[in-house]
Amino acid sequence: MQKLQFGVAYYPEHWPQERWAEDIRLMQAAHVTVARLGEFAWSSMEPVEGQFNFAWLEKAIEMLAEAGIATVLGTPTAAPPAWLAQKYPTTLATEETGRQAQFGNRCHYCVNSPEFHTASRRIVQAMAARFGSSPHVIGWQLDNEYNRVCYCDHCRAEFQAFLRERYGTLDELNRHWSTAYWSQSYSDWAQIPIPIGPHNPGLMLVFRHFVTRSYQNFQQAQLDELRPHLPPSVWVTHNFMGWFGAFDHYTLTRDIDFASWDWYIGTGHIDYLTTGAIHDLTRGFKQKNFWLMETQPGNVNWSKTNNVLNRGEARAMAWHAVAHGADALLYWQWRSALGGQEQYHGSLIDQSGRQRPFFDEAKRIGQEFAQVADLLFGSIIQSKVALLNCYDSRWSLEFQRHNSEFDYVRHLTHWYRALAARNLNVDVISADAALDQYELVIAPALLVLDEARAEKLKAFVQRGGRLVLTVRTGMKDRHNALLPQRQPGTLAELAGVEVVDYYSLLEPVPVAGELFQGTSQLWAERLQILDGQSPVVLACFGASNGWLDDQVAIALNPYGNGFVYTVGAYLDVASQQALTDQILNDARLEMFETPPGIEVRPRTLVNGEPVYFIINHTRLPQTVSLPWAAFDHLTGKISAGEMEFAGYAVAIVTRQKD
Ligand code: GAL
Repeated sequence: MQKLQFGVAYYPEHWPQERWAEDIRLMQAAHVTVARLGEFAWSSMEPVEGQFNFAWLEKAIEMLAEAGIATVLGTPTAAPPAWLAQKYPTTLATEETGRQAQFGNRCHYCVNSPEFHTASRRIVQAMAARFGSSPHVIGWQLDNEYNRVCYCDHCRAEFQAFLRERYGTLDELNRHWSTAYWSQSYSDWAQIPIPIGPHNPGLMLVFRHFVTRSYQNFQQAQLDELRPHLPPSVWVTHNFMGWFGAFDHYTLTRDIDFASWDWYIGTGHIDYLTTGAIHDLTRGFKQKNFWLMETQPGNVNWSKTNNVLNRGEARAMAWHAVAHGADALLYWQWRSALGGQEQYHGSLIDQSGRQRPFFDEAKRIGQEFAQVADLLFGSIIQSKVALLNCYDSRWSLEFQRHNSEFDYVRHLTHWYRALAARNLNVDVISADAALDQYELVIAPALLVLDEARAEKLKAFVQRGGRLVLTVRTGMKDRHNALLPQRQPGTLAELAGVEVVDYYSLLEPVPVAGELFQGTSQLWAERLQILDGQSPVVLACFGASNGWLDDQVAIALNPYGNGFVYTVGAYLDVASQQALTDQILNDARLEMFETPPGIEVRPRTLVNGEPVYFIINHTRLPQTVSLPWAAFDHLTGKISAGEMEFAGYAVAIVTRQKD
């Protein structure tokens, strides 16, 4: 466990050594406590195969340490050097089109290439031997933003071996994938392709599992070289990309100490009701606080408009991240290299080596982090509400959206936003995680269902939990085959209803009940009450395509000591909020009503008390009514009653004891 850290990505290899002292002086001025180094510096560390040059890196680490700045070291495997590609062309990935990736950008590697594994192990081993026990290196980041999927012949052979391990026999595989359909039956493992474009749904799903396994193996190779050199206090992480979906993040975070992510807005401004879900997702990978390993200092260079964040917005974003469980925030990057692909990216220092206007905002954040680091040390996020996230369900829906506008992540976020608007802490967790600590569980589009999942949800409701099932639930098995039952599969027993048919919508259809008069967009499911069951009908569809007219849209069923809501509609925003409020009220979960744009979030301190982050995410002044006298740890002031918030203002408050 470490205190809240504030930092930057620093690339000393871009600059002459004479410059470093000035950079470090400016970092100190900005209250930087940690610098991330090395993650693209392979050619500087190993200019020739097997010949290492770490002197410069050691010098930089030492100079930073003398200034009280710790180092996080990145393994440089996301930027394999030119000599490697030249000598071992098979280390280059093959794109979907069959074209080989070109050298000169980054992440051009084939994640399964044996030559690439050998080279990666060698550089990681050498770095670990040199820096693993350095008192200045507090942690390691493996690679950078795993992302590429390779389609080369070697990957195909490994995929076939993976399938053999998974299915045992071709008969099993053929059965699960229904390969009699379109004469797809396989009589030899070597016949099975890597799916490119639309394909058999079973094949497509299991290929994602293979991509996950590929990165897991690659990561493990690095861990095997690194861990033996690290003292127990030194951690290992990886910087993921939020909702990026090429692999299962729950599997990939199993073997590292905590998850990190890189948060960029690109074009536009923060929408905290949506970004909160990504912080909570990252925290949920290991159900632990996380690091924000990269975030944007002002603007990026890769988006449509690359507008700058408003003055003050980055500070609000920083505290938003901390309020959702970030234990560190690092800006990418300190200073742009004079050459290279990212010359126009935001930074703290400009091309002349001087401070950009953003520097002052960063400095303020650094100073405030230092101010509350002791208070927040060891604090965690506690939640009674879980949103279940399932990669298999997401992938299956992405392969066959049925309505091109239906997006798994957007749908999950739709549910998240209504909770976040009421300032509730939410854990976004794996659909296979334990549910013991929760009172309310929402399972958006939990398409893939098996007995273990159904049993766990049943036990949760049985003991008094409230479960929300939404559209597109309980339709597929683990092989992406249709379940031979109506939706929601075996959960129907809990729900008291089944789905007699589902409809992709051309236009919104009316949905009305006591709670709201609204519409369902994109999707609607006609519910039917099961014989012998008597759920409460919360809403019905209005006149639309004839099939849905007057049919049940939303039902609430008691089961065991708990309740199940089945929501067959994808509601408009206002109706979604009304339904969510009702569900939260039913569950007696505490909501904070705040003006739009004001976020209030608690972290639980080590003494068990909550500390609240109150953030104005708008440019306009706002007033917040405090339920009690509050001590603001940033200003040292006590406020009671109405508290004024200027645009982008932040307060970090605890309840003032009388
Ligand atoms: C990230 C990447 C960084 C930097 C940044 C620019 O995806 O990890 O190295 O390129 O984007 O926004």
